[in-house]
Amino acid sequence: MSRFWNEKTRNIEPYVAGEQPKPGQKTIKLNTNENPYPASPKIREAISDIEIPILARYPETSSRIVREELAKVLGVTPEQVFCGNGSDEVLAFSFQAFFESGEGAAPLLVPDISYSFYPVYAELYSIPLKKIPLKDDFSIDVSAFCEGNGGGVAFANPNAPTSKLLDLSDVEKILQANPDHVVLVDEAYAAFSGVTARTLLPKYKNLLVTGTLSKSHSLAGLRLGFAVGDPELIEGLCRIRDSFNSYPVDCIAQKIASVAIADDAWVMENVRKVCVTRDRIAQELRSRGWTLPESKTNFLFAKPKDMTAEAIYTKLREKGILVRYFNKPRISGYLRITVGTDEEMDALLKAIDEIAGGTNA
Ligand SMILES: Cc1ncc(COP(=O)(O)O)c(C=O)c1O
Repeated sequence: MSRFWNEKTRNIEPYVAGEQPKPGQKTIKLNTNENPYPASPKIREAISDIEIPILARYPETSSRIVREELAKVLGVTPEQVFCGNGSDEVLAFSFQAFFESGEGAAPLLVPDISYSFYPVYAELYSIPLKKIPLKDDFSIDVSAFCEGNGGGVAFANPNAPTSKLLDLSDVEKILQANPDHVVLVDEAYAAFSGVTARTLLPKYKNLLVTGTLSKSHSLAGLRLGFAVGDPELIEGLCRIRDSFNSYPVDCIAQKIASVAIADDAWVMENVRKVCVTRDRIAQELRSRGWTLPESKTNFLFAKPKDMTAEAIYTKLREKGILVRYFNKPRISGYLRITVGTDEEMDALLKAIDEIAGGTNA
């Protein structure tokens, strides 16, 4: 605490990112939903082709080459795509562009358990928030989002950390019930579900879908996120971007991202491998008495048998395996476990069995 902090800085509760291993520390990192496989090998050549003098110039503001590649694989036009420095930034811009702030504004509706950056952005931009409790089975309470009293809606689909998918028919109900406000569907994990609300874009001008290269494209380190929606929504995002930082995506990131997006076959094969491993490990955990919803993401939301989630988290950490534990109401009984390679996941199972058996081999 410094006496120079303003009121916002004093009071905000910042987002807490998953633990990063120290340099040189050997860990199995299953705590931040990264992809265990490397990004497209075509990136190597693209990087060596980069001419040093281009670094002397500011990058193209709109990430045109990335939007063009995204438009091709997403089946939209480049005018429907916005790019930013990770989808975190795109979410932040969206909150500023579409949801009203200040006392008396209709609240933004979000699930009580969802991506924990939503309440942080709401606080940062003084947007009133109404948290709608998930149902007991952790599914989104669609009817509560359809009461027509909100100033917008934001949720992740599939949701995090629950890993559950909301059917598109339900997403559509929410869109229809909130025709005068933006419904933001955060599809950070959509590639692992095979379901996307982008198919609803021709019907709903109030739909904004965000996505990221961090998970499906194995590029969390690059920081490239995007939004897809009606060109008027995209224009709104550009207005906010150009009121904050006109160059959110650097020229190297633009080059790498466009090459990675074009190599869709590589991306889809890695996604497929992650999904196969995910379903195998889910079965393995269930056979050990753990409870977990059907995951449509690249992580498992799993409740251990006999021991607390916190105890297992701690013991796994001692063994060099990082998973995510949230000490929060309703979800403190669960671990969020990113799907790694088969070898990493087998090591996780072995460690879990050792912990359960009381051996610490
Ligand atoms: C639901 C959800 N949305 C957005 C993000 C942010 O992704 P990015 O790396 O693109 O900022 C994450 C990251 O874990 C996430 O879980």
